[in-house]
Amino acid sequence: MAKTSLVLFLVLSSFFIALLQCDARTHRSRTQPRPLRPQPEPQRCKYDGIFQFGDSISDTGNQILEPAGPRSPCAHNPYGQKLIGEPTGRCSNGRLMIDFIGALTNINVSILWRLLHKHLVYYSKPYLELGLPTPNPYLEPGEPAVSFNHGVNFAVAGSTALNTSVLLQNGILSPVTNSSLLVQLDWFLAHYQNLCETAKNCETYNILKGSLFMVGETGGNDYNYAFLQGKSIEDATALVPLVVNNIRDVAKKLIDLGATRLVVPGNFPIGCSPMYHNQYLQDALQQLRLEYPNVAIVYADYYQAAEWVLTNAPQLGFETKSILKVCCGTGGDYNFSLMSMCGMEGVFACSDPDQYINWDGVHLTEKAYQSMADWLIKSQVFECIV
Ligand SMILES: *[C@@H]1O[C@H](CO)[C@@H](O)[C@H](O)[C@H]1NC(C)=O
Ligand SMILES: *[C@@H]1O[C@H](CO)[C@@H](O)[C@H](O)[C@H]1NC(C)=O
Ligand SMILES: *[C@@H]1O[C@H](CO)[C@@H](O)[C@H](O)[C@H]1NC(C)=O
Ligand SMILES: *[C@@H]1O[C@H](CO)[C@@H](O)[C@H](O)[C@H]1NC(C)=O
Repeated sequence: MAKTSLVLFLVLSSFFIALLQCDARTHRSRTQPRPLRPQPEPQRCKYDGIFQFGDSISDTGNQILEPAGPRSPCAHNPYGQKLIGEPTGRCSNGRLMIDFIGALTNINVSILWRLLHKHLVYYSKPYLELGLPTPNPYLEPGEPAVSFNHGVNFAVAGSTALNTSVLLQNGILSPVTNSSLLVQLDWFLAHYQNLCETAKNCETYNILKGSLFMVGETGGNDYNYAFLQGKSIEDATALVPLVVNNIRDVAKKLIDLGATRLVVPGNFPIGCSPMYHNQYLQDALQQLRLEYPNVAIVYADYYQAAEWVLTNAPQLGFETKSILKVCCGTGGDYNFSLMSMCGMEGVFACSDPDQYINWDGVHLTEKAYQSMADWLIKSQVFECIV
C-alpha cells in the first residue's frame, strides 16, 4: 500500500497526466514548432563543467540514493535497460537530455578515474564506451570523493522548485523528496566552498566562469502535485510567481558567485500551467538580462522541443498509430494506469522503445529525449555566447 501510494504520487514531470487535467485548447503553443530541416552543425562550446539543477528530467542518480530511493519505480527494472541493463536512477529506458547535452559540450572526462572508481555500477561498460561526460550525481557515494571535475548533477527526481515547507503552507504535500531547488542550491554552495578550500583556486581560476549552469527544468512537480492533490487550476496558477521567483533567485545567486553561462529551461506541455509558467519565466529572465548584461542567460524551450518531437514523430522514426501510448505500462487506452506503473511487478516494457515517445506515462524514452536534445542543440541553446 505504501508503495502504491508513493508510486501514485511519483509524478515527476508528467507528459501524460496533463491530458487528464486540461483540454488541448489551453496548452497549445502560440508559436508553431520549427520544421524539420537540416541545419549547420552548431559551433561546439567547450565548457569546463556542467552544473545541473532540477527533477527527474535531469536526475542521473540522486533520488535513488536518498532514503526513499529504493521505493522509486526508477530504481527498478526495466528502467535503464538500454544503458547497462539495470537502473541507473535515470527515469527513462536510457539516457536523458543532459547526457546528450554533455556529449555535445566536449568536456574532458577522465575515463580512467571512473574505471578506478568503486561504484562502477553507475558507469559500467557500454556507458564508458560512449565516453559520456555527464556530470556525476551529487549524492554518489565514494571515497575518495567522486570526481566532480566536470561539474555536478544536483537534480533529484520528484523534487519541486518551491521548498516543501512552502508547498505545505499551500496545502500541497511533496511526497517523494525534500530536496527542492533551494536545497540543491545549498548542496552547490557546500560543494563550491569545499572546492575552494581544497583546490585553493577560486581566486585564480574560477571554474564557475567556464561552466554551463542548467537551472531546471524545475517547477513541473509543484503543479503536478497540486493537481494530483485536488487543487484547482487557480490554485496551481497562484504558485507560478512563487516558483519562478525561486528559479530567478537561484540564477541570481549563481551569477553573483561567478556563473556567466546559464540555461534556464521551461516546462513541458503538461496541464494548464506551463504556458503561464513559461511566459512568466521568460519575462523574469529578460529582467535578469537587463540586470546582468555580461552574462548569457538563455531560455531553453522544452515545450516547443517536445511539441516538435510530437509533430515530427513519423520523420523521427516513431510509431505514429499509437503516438500517446506508453511503452512501459499496462491498462487503459494508453497502456497506462496509476495502479500498475512501470517499475512495478508484472509491468513490462514494449520490445521496441525507440518507436515510442512516452516511456512510462510520465517520462519520455531515450529516443524522444535525444530528439528533444537535438532540437535544442540545433536551436543553438548551448552555443558559446560569452
Ligand atoms: C583531460 O584531463 C586529464 C586530467 O586532468 C589531462 O591529463 C588530459 O591531458 C586532458 N585531456 C585533454 C584532451 O584535454
Ligand atoms: C520531508 O520532511 C518532512 C519533515 O521533516 C518529513 O516528515 C518527510 O518524511 C520528508 N519527506 C521525504 C520524502 O523524505
Ligand atoms: C527554503 O529552504 C532553504 C534551504 O533549505 C532555506 O535556506 C530557506 O530558508 C527556505 N525558505 C523558506 C521560505 O522556507
Ligand atoms: C503495453 O502493456 C503490455 C502489458 O504490460 C506490454 O506487453 C506492451 O508491450 C505494452 N506496450 C505497448 C506499447 O502496447
